[in-house]
Amino acid sequence: MLGPAILAASRSDKMRRIVSAAPVTKPVVTRFIPGETVDQVIPIVEELTRKGLEVTLDVVGEDITTVEQSYAARDAYLELIGRLKGLGLGEKAEMSVKLSMFGQALEGGHELALANVRPVVEAAAAIGTTVTLDAEDHTTLDSMFAIHEELRKDFPQTGCVIQAYLFRTEADARRLADAGSRVRIVKGAYKEPAEVAYQDKGEIDKAYVRILKTLMEGKGYPMIGSHDPRLIAIGQELARQAGRKPDEYEFQMLYGIRSEEHLRLAAEGHRMRVYTAYGTDWYGYFMRRLAEKPANLLFFLRSMITK
Ligand code: FDA
Repeated sequence: MLGPAILAASRSDKMRRIVSAAPVTKPVVTRFIPGETVDQVIPIVEELTRKGLEVTLDVVGEDITTVEQSYAARDAYLELIGRLKGLGLGEKAEMSVKLSMFGQALEGGHELALANVRPVVEAAAAIGTTVTLDAEDHTTLDSMFAIHEELRKDFPQTGCVIQAYLFRTEADARRLADAGSRVRIVKGAYKEPAEVAYQDKGEIDKAYVRILKTLMEGKGYPMIGSHDPRLIAIGQELARQAGRKPDEYEFQMLYGIRSEEHLRLAAEGHRMRVYTAYGTDWYGYFMRRLAEKPANLLFFLRSMITK
């Protein structure tokens, strides 16, 4: 019950102001978003890669309202890529981007988001890495997939995310499981209506397995985005059945969640990538993490009371 309420709050400006201003929020936020600036996140990337993990970096932000903000988002990624280049971290760190932060929802937003993301993809390619387009709510996906297809004409390694809770995703997975594609499969983190998405956790998990099987049996590069121990075990088994070598798929988890499992999978010889978000506009990202595990909310509220 709490999850949907938190997701509804994640889109409320009033709640954004209250939560963002609460003095006790920061220490709780840091668990999931370990820095606000490039300077703060680079040591984290260095630490993770020293431990044998790979990284995908997300400059937090979404649902922007002005064109200037979309340029600022582009520039923040370009600054990040410049820093990664200087440190020789390009091979270990890729980028994850949300197109709504690049202006997708503004007037003419499809073209604007494409124009903003292209230089980021180009800069990433120049340092030997790539970009994955995150999946946001279902109304944004046709545009996201069209931008993905367009970018892949010049940068075939550009990745995208598909969400198991959506009915459309099995067909998307079949379309995307082609040679050279990089596809992250996740359960899905937004509040979606019953007309477009499974609401039952068991149904979502079953869909996840069917979709992952399609990706594993296909010709692309599957990226298994989940912390769910059952799905991780099934992912390992499906990779084995499909005869995939350890460098022909990867696991991905979020920074701050089941960190010991990141290390365990890497030690077993799996490629393990940690999705690491940083920046100041962390509200939406943070609220989705609370919604995934309402116990996080209790921890957050308790820290407010005991302060
Ligand atoms: P589930 O939610 O069942 O969690 C399994 C276990 O993991 C829980 O029992 C708990 O122990 C732990 N756990 C999970 N979430 C936790 C949390 N917030 N705090 C503490 N413990 C937690 N979604 C989306 O819509 N678009 C996207 O682009 C992405 N991108 C993305 C990248 C990566 C690398 C990951 C791992 C996830 C995403 N997601 C996403 C989020 C995804 O859709 C989903 O909401 C979360 O991964 C939670 O689902 P799980 O598969 O982990 O299972």
